[in-house]
Amino acid sequence: MSEASPTLWSGRFSEPVTARVQRYTASIGFDYRLAEFDIQGSLAHARMLARQAIIDDGDLRAIEQGLTDILNDIRAGRFTWKLELEDVHLNIEKALTERVGDAGKRLHTGRSRNDQVATDIRLYLRHNIDLILQGLRDCQLALLDLAEQHADIPMPGHTHLQVAQPVSFGHHMMAYFEMFSRDAHRMTDCRRRLNRLPLGAAALAGTSYPIDRAQVAKELDFDGVCENSLDAVSDRDFAIEFSACASVVMMHFSRLSEELILWMNPRFGFIDLPDRFCTGSSIMPQKKNPDVPELMRGKTGRVYGHLLGLLTLMKGQPLAYNKDNQEDKEPLFDTVDTLLDTLAIAADMLPGIQVRPEAMLAALQQGFATATDLADYLVKKGLPFRDAHEAVARAVRLAEQRACELADLSLDTLRQFSALIQDDVYAVLSINGSLHSRDHVGGTAPNQVRAAVARARASLTSR
Ligand code: ARG
Repeated sequence: MSEASPTLWSGRFSEPVTARVQRYTASIGFDYRLAEFDIQGSLAHARMLARQAIIDDGDLRAIEQGLTDILNDIRAGRFTWKLELEDVHLNIEKALTERVGDAGKRLHTGRSRNDQVATDIRLYLRHNIDLILQGLRDCQLALLDLAEQHADIPMPGHTHLQVAQPVSFGHHMMAYFEMFSRDAHRMTDCRRRLNRLPLGAAALAGTSYPIDRAQVAKELDFDGVCENSLDAVSDRDFAIEFSACASVVMMHFSRLSEELILWMNPRFGFIDLPDRFCTGSSIMPQKKNPDVPELMRGKTGRVYGHLLGLLTLMKGQPLAYNKDNQEDKEPLFDTVDTLLDTLAIAADMLPGIQVRPEAMLAALQQGFATATDLADYLVKKGLPFRDAHEAVARAVRLAEQRACELADLSLDTLRQFSALIQDDVYAVLSINGSLHSRDHVGGTAPNQVRAAVARARASLTSR
């Protein structure tokens, strides 16, 4: 970028801004990232102006040629952004005028930077939501493969981070699949609401030229136009909504990361991650640290922060456009970058998870994970549930004293707690018996997990 040099803004101004104010008010340092979308919007606007005979065909051809050249220069890294031209819109318009003369000066007819920037951000977000949806889908496919491969592998399900009941590792993976499905729906919904055209609102009140907004909307693939010009240029609720959706996605990845971190701890030892997602320690030679999941958990914080930042940015703004809105871009860009990176890395990492079924089984054999199954067994033999709960609690206490599992107690010992217990109890106390017995939609029985995977695959292909 070129150096700042204080300039006179226009004939209206009698003194130039200082270099510091120029730096303070400029957005070109970050909004150059909107260039592709800015040019896309300008081309559609210019074509409409020509069709409506607001500019002539010669002007349109010059504008089209000039903008196409500028876009090529930007893509090739040949374009020089100038701080004194403040933002991406003025930089491109000035370059256009330098290249094609008066036609370039006519491009801004019936338009303002206010509806222009609102259009650019919507185009930018729409494009990136589509990439995010693809990234979510890649992660979901990885989860489905894991779930299918490990539908039969029992692991301890936890509540309060204490061993609760056996679940299959595949079932656990499918829980995250469900979360990411809802995330994708939320993003799709957000896309639908933001996919409306602000152009035509001009500065705030609309324009007196005979514009055709529907035409521009159609050319830019919007589902329609923003109905109110004041609203079109001023609100950024779509950006806030996007940030909220992104925050929920990150929250889900953060939970998954937390579990991967715990499971990789040798005390659990449930999984291992490929070395390329971990780092060692500069001082402790034995260490293999799960850096990537830790950062996914950590980066969730900045995405939440951006959501709060955007909400706060909007809360005190009177209608319509205020320069405050220029502050919407950096949080949005960072949210998009963070989320896309997280999705790409997760889609690469998930298939690399190495599952350690022996460690999961060993953990299950220590926590009375089938105590509920024993209570249910007694209920099926006629005991009221509360009494069954009490009988099993006493049996667990004894097993704890003897440092053994319920299944290690003899039939005679077990019958001290309820005479209803017979030797078929040992099947009920087995981990696999417990797993297979939860055989209904949403349950952890391996055949149910496989059915859930099949339904999920079908839902992904229809999305
Ligand atoms: N750089 C500005 C932004 O990002 C563009 C719109 C400026 N409009 C204005 N009236 N100053 O919001």
